[in-house]
Amino acid sequence: VRSSTPAGLSHKEAELYSRLDPARFPRHIAIIMDGNGRWAKRRHLPRIAGHRSGVFAVRNTVQCASRIGLPALTLYAFSVENWLRRPKTETSFLMGLLRRYLKIEMPAFQEHNVRVQFIGRWRELPAEVQERMDWAIEETINNTGLRLTFAINYGGRSEIVDAVNSILQTARRNGHHAEVDEESIDQHLYTSHLPELDLLIRTSGEMRLSNFLLWQAAYSEIYVTEALWPDFNGVKLLEAIGEFQKRERRFGGIESIHHSTVHTA
Ligand code: FPP
Repeated sequence: VRSSTPAGLSHKEAELYSRLDPARFPRHIAIIMDGNGRWAKRRHLPRIAGHRSGVFAVRNTVQCASRIGLPALTLYAFSVENWLRRPKTETSFLMGLLRRYLKIEMPAFQEHNVRVQFIGRWRELPAEVQERMDWAIEETINNTGLRLTFAINYGGRSEIVDAVNSILQTARRNGHHAEVDEESIDQHLYTSHLPELDLLIRTSGEMRLSNFLLWQAAYSEIYVTEALWPDFNGVKLLEAIGEFQKRERRFGGIESIHHSTVHTA
């Protein structure tokens, strides 16, 4: 293990970290946290027990991400569809869990210099949840380490719709013609302040984007693991980064010629 291994990593995490190339670290990782329900079902437990265990996975993953100096981590906590299609008892349990999580985790956020933010139409959530979210944002606003973003009541299509509407509104306010191009959409997305999305991880095996970061994922590497979310952790995060480093990102161009076949269209 190199001497530059960050402090606080477990033995296994440190070992995986030491095999990574520091020059090719992702700057922004996003995770679709799926499989809490299946995790609980396998144990003959109610679904909410899976969500409760999911919180431990969030904690461990965030801790590792911040120790290795990852600049940005975005977690898909609840989609717009989650609201519509899940029983009320489950969504209100998830709301309570989020409130408790933010409160309990605050000392750790401060200790690890984590800045908490939210994306999605979270202004539609119950007032007491929004209050806790506002509080978490305010409390961590001066932290300069990991930018931890929770996507809550989030949808990728509605994000693009919101971006376009915001472009139109700005133009109307300034009395000029709205110009919509890739750059202006980029600048009006919820994630405009975050680095380019390098790696998108999905747990529990499904090969879908599920309306998550549709625009941002255009050139991201996608890594799907069979692990259910409650079984995810820092070790699995480092394994995903290792896999990311094995792949070659080309952005539609040809970055290295040596093993690629050049197709003439
Ligand atoms: C997916 O599992 C998970 C969710 C919809 C909720 C995500 C919540 C957590 C990870 C825990 C709480 C998080 C915070 C930040 C407090 P699923 O229920 O869709 O699983 P299934 O597909 O197996 O049914």
